[in-house]
Amino acid sequence: MKLLCLVAWMVTMAAMPLHAAAPSEPISPERLNTIIEALSRLEPAVVQGNPKLLEALGKVLDATRGTPRFVELVRRFSVAGREMDLIEVAAKYPAEESGVEAMRLVLGSAAVPDLRPLLRGADKAKAAALVKALANSNHPKAAALLVPLVTETKVDAAVRKEAVRGLARSQEGARQLLAWARADKLPADVRFTASAELNAARWPDVQAEAAKLLPLPAGANAQPLPPIAELLQRKGDSRNGEAVYFREVVGCAKCHQINGRGVEFGPALSEIGSKLGKEAMLEAILEPSAGISFGFEIWNVETKDGSEFTGMVVSDAVDELAIKAVGGVVTRLKKADVVKRTQSKLSGMPTGLAQSVTPQELVDLLEFLSTLKKK
Ligand code: HEC
Repeated sequence: MKLLCLVAWMVTMAAMPLHAAAPSEPISPERLNTIIEALSRLEPAVVQGNPKLLEALGKVLDATRGTPRFVELVRRFSVAGREMDLIEVAAKYPAEESGVEAMRLVLGSAAVPDLRPLLRGADKAKAAALVKALANSNHPKAAALLVPLVTETKVDAAVRKEAVRGLARSQEGARQLLAWARADKLPADVRFTASAELNAARWPDVQAEAAKLLPLPAGANAQPLPPIAELLQRKGDSRNGEAVYFREVVGCAKCHQINGRGVEFGPALSEIGSKLGKEAMLEAILEPSAGISFGFEIWNVETKDGSEFTGMVVSDAVDELAIKAVGGVVTRLKKADVVKRTQSKLSGMPTGLAQSVTPQELVDLLEFLSTLKKK
């Protein structure tokens, strides 16, 4: 009885202000918040079974289109038929939780729209963003959409490079890229991207094969590293080290933040100079898997629908597991959907990063990192 009263009250709360408003009148932000708040207290089944509440939900969805809240509502109430709107959010936020979740909802929907024309469309920026969201989704249907793009040379190179980055993140995708390289089928304009990604892959066998099939541009890695003791004695130029750190192929900023700059995946390095001496830093760079920082262990998680996630567990609640992948995207999984969870022995930081710099640049990088101290 109590519950019914509450529901009835919610119905009035949710629907009344909307009925009072003229259809064309936009809902004020306060009213929208109230309605969303009221709806989110209800069990999805209650809303789905109540025409008034469904109508209120529909209006809220229209008012929040294109935003992370829209995605949250679609997910919570298992709304069907909003795939095109979800695709818009995915294109807008391809590397954020909401956009990636939107893409997962699209791929998991009963009527998956045909994404192929969009990925090859005239709007190249949008196509590239959708490819990125697909790659970040880890959905089992994503690979079949990404793989054909790479070798279709009519498709814009930026879109295909994004597909290569996405594929390089899974072992299966990485193997496909290596197979193309072996058969000389990898288009020339994506070779560099494939080489940079695969030479920094987490899996030692993939990395070793990439070094042979897709070596990094000669120069940097042609010089063997001198003995560690010698490296540590050399003088470094911290300003040049900073430039090396932020260089695209070196990629430290793709996983670490320094004073808020960069992606938050590995530990922040803003005070690393107070925490580690140069030798320990060098070890962290050359042999990441030798000592993995607490809380940054990598897990592989499989879900019922066949998706595989690799990353750090950032929250582990009774009914939900949140995994942060390389790139910093967090995916929230229902515990009931998780079928397997195994801890990786490998660090989330790849070995061999030092191979893309000269020994002197490595010395400069260490010098730069040692200047990052507690204030
Ligand atoms: C693909 C992601 C990734 C990239 C790229 C990456 N790191 Fe890391 N790094 C991590 C992760 C995850 C950890 C924590 C796990 C561990 O200790 O191995 C880490 C740990 C570290 C640590 C130890 C931090 C501590 O608090 O103990 C240092 C130092 C470091 N990285 C420096 C670098 C530098 C310098 C680069 C660029 C040459 C770099 N990393 C590139 C992911 C990355």
